[in-house]
Amino acid sequence: MKDGCGLSDLEAKRIVVTGASRGIGQAIALEYARRGATVIASARSETSLAETKAVFPDRIRTISADLLDEESLAGLARTVSEAFGEVDALVCCAGALRYGTLEELEASDFEWMMKLHVVAPAMLVRALLPALRAGFGSVLMIGSTLAQQTAPGMSAYAASKAALHSLTHSLALELAPEIRVNTLSLGVIETDMTRSLRPGFESEKEQLEVLRSLHPLKRLGTAEEAAEAAVFATEARWMTGSILTLDGGLVNAG
Ligand SMILES: NC(=O)c1ccc[n+]([C@@H]2O[C@H](COP(=O)([O-])OP(=O)(O)OC[C@H]3O[C@@H](n4cnc5c(N)ncnc54)[C@H](OP(=O)(O)O)[C@@H]3O)[C@@H](O)[C@H]2O)c1
Repeated sequence: MKDGCGLSDLEAKRIVVTGASRGIGQAIALEYARRGATVIASARSETSLAETKAVFPDRIRTISADLLDEESLAGLARTVSEAFGEVDALVCCAGALRYGTLEELEASDFEWMMKLHVVAPAMLVRALLPALRAGFGSVLMIGSTLAQQTAPGMSAYAASKAALHSLTHSLALELAPEIRVNTLSLGVIETDMTRSLRPGFESEKEQLEVLRSLHPLKRLGTAEEAAEAAVFATEARWMTGSILTLDGGLVNAG
């Protein structure tokens, strides 16, 4: 029997993943390649992408691009279109966290977060529209439960992820029926981003323990678990405009 979500056969699929040099994006790129897809993995430098490529050198091609730079973003879209022609899925995972209270953050911090998490994904989707339309492709944004349930010091990040969730709903309407657009909204996943120490914590260990305790399932998610959900979300053919939550129960805990 063919599996309902098409998860078993990704061999002919052409996938683009941004933020693929480490953490969640790397795990997503590797999960697609493990299932047989051809993947273009992108981040800011070829050096940082070498580890991702080394796992599946025949299935993963790397392209460096700084998504905050318009020419660099356009170059990525051009290379993807030339290499693939048709794109089956674009996963916009590149991201970063600028932590700080309102008094600590400058306007430029808010603008930087919005550019990285909202403007860049929107412009990358726009630049890849012909290839996505040709492939009846799927776009997946990597969102955050902080969009719904935030915390002190997270205003710029949380607002940018909330805007990304909203962008998902709008693009899903505009781009249907050819292109599906969804967001995977994540609780805390153990990556470099999560480990970087925030004010109020004495050590990385203490910070991770507190973060774990916030989740009803009493552990953080893994990048591999996020990757499995990402593949499901891009392959689920009747899903568009959805915010799929993977959070160990975090949001429900209130
Ligand atoms: N970790 C969590 O708990 C969590 C929870 C919810 C949502 N998320 C989201 O998941 C995504 C990945 O997070 P992560 O934890 O895996 O972070 P990470 O380990 O810090 O990885 C971030 C990735 O984004 C890339 N990147 C950053 N700035 C970029 C730019 N200007 N242009 C191109 N690429 C850029 C980095 O590549 P280079 O530095 O090599 O260029 C890297 O591959 C982010 O969007 C994040 O907001 C994470």
